[in-house]
Amino acid sequence: MDFEKQMNDKVVEIENVIQAYMPKEYTFQKTIIDAMDYTMSAGGKRIRPMLMKACYDLFGGTANVVEPFMAAIEMIHTYSLIHDDLPALDNDDYRRGRKTAHIVYGEDMAILAGDALLNYAFETATKAFDLIMSQNLLDIDTETIANDTSTLYVYVNELKQRKSVERALQVLSSKPGIYGMIGGQVVDVELTGSTLTEEQLVYIYENKTGALIESSMMIGAILAGVDESTIEKIQKVAYNIGMAFQIQDDILDETSTFEELGKALHSDEKNGKVTYVTIHGIKESRNEIEKLSREAIEILESMDGDSEFLQHLIEYLIDRKN
Ligand code: IPE
Ligand code: IPE
Ligand code: MG
Ligand code: MG
Ligand code: MG
Repeated sequence: MDFEKQMNDKVVEIENVIQAYMPKEYTFQKTIIDAMDYTMSAGGKRIRPMLMKACYDLFGGTANVVEPFMAAIEMIHTYSLIHDDLPALDNDDYRRGRKTAHIVYGEDMAILAGDALLNYAFETATKAFDLIMSQNLLDIDTETIANDTSTLYVYVNELKQRKSVERALQVLSSKPGIYGMIGGQVVDVELTGSTLTEEQLVYIYENKTGALIESSMMIGAILAGVDESTIEKIQKVAYNIGMAFQIQDDILDETSTFEELGKALHSDEKNGKVTYVTIHGIKESRNEIEKLSREAIEILESMDGDSEFLQHLIEYLIDRKN
């Protein structure tokens, strides 16, 4: 099957998973449900859930425990976009081909919709525990479990899965935070209009963009039950993808069209942001994306498992158009 068809099929599956986990019930707070849904359902490439699922598949995961995490990471990413576009931050009017949430729902509701998506992401991710409960083992007394090999097998297996979900939740909760995405956004916003050292620039990129991409891929691997050294390798692959992804985002901000991008062009220039592209120029930026991506592919090639889809995805992202 050709890669783009494969990718489009995966996007359809991801959309279904996201829809299944979005909140549906409301009483007086209907506005917030609408505002959350407005940006969530506007499309977007769904790269983070796609990377998560690709890693889960790569390491032999076959269950649906990954699905609440796929929805959760997209909720966290979408919250970061809604807040990133606010007048106090990048002050942008378009996102995913639509007017931004604060233009349509007002700043108050856009702030709350971002908060709500962040919170709902964790409500959603913890639903993974319900999916791994094979039976209510807590109702069986310890003695019986210890003396019955088949029950013991189920018990230990479930315990292992619970450990993976706990570890995944740790990653899901730390990477968007002050040692991850928020850290990067803080420095990005604080140093807007100033010159940046290479070290500051790298800090911004690895955190504002890299952290959520790392968390996506690490969670996929963790839920599939891989060992520590594999998690570290996947984190490195994700680090490179994240850096390359943000450099390409900067290039597209200068070179794309609104139709293709679905967001306003020249946002960085408007805000006086120093980016990888303003420091190094487009040609060197493209070379860097290529280098980071090739290195990521090489690491995958050196690992066990069929990473063909993931490798194609990295190739595709090198010169993505949106
Ligand atoms: C935009 O992310 C923000 C960055 C981290 C560069 P995406 O380019 O993944 O945005 P969507 O989800 O496709 O809209
Ligand atoms: C945003 O970086 C990263 C986030 C955490 C949202 P940008 O500000 O460059 O993202 P866009 O270009 O608005 O999507
Ligand atoms: Mg920004
Ligand atoms: Mg922005
Ligand atoms: Mg940008």
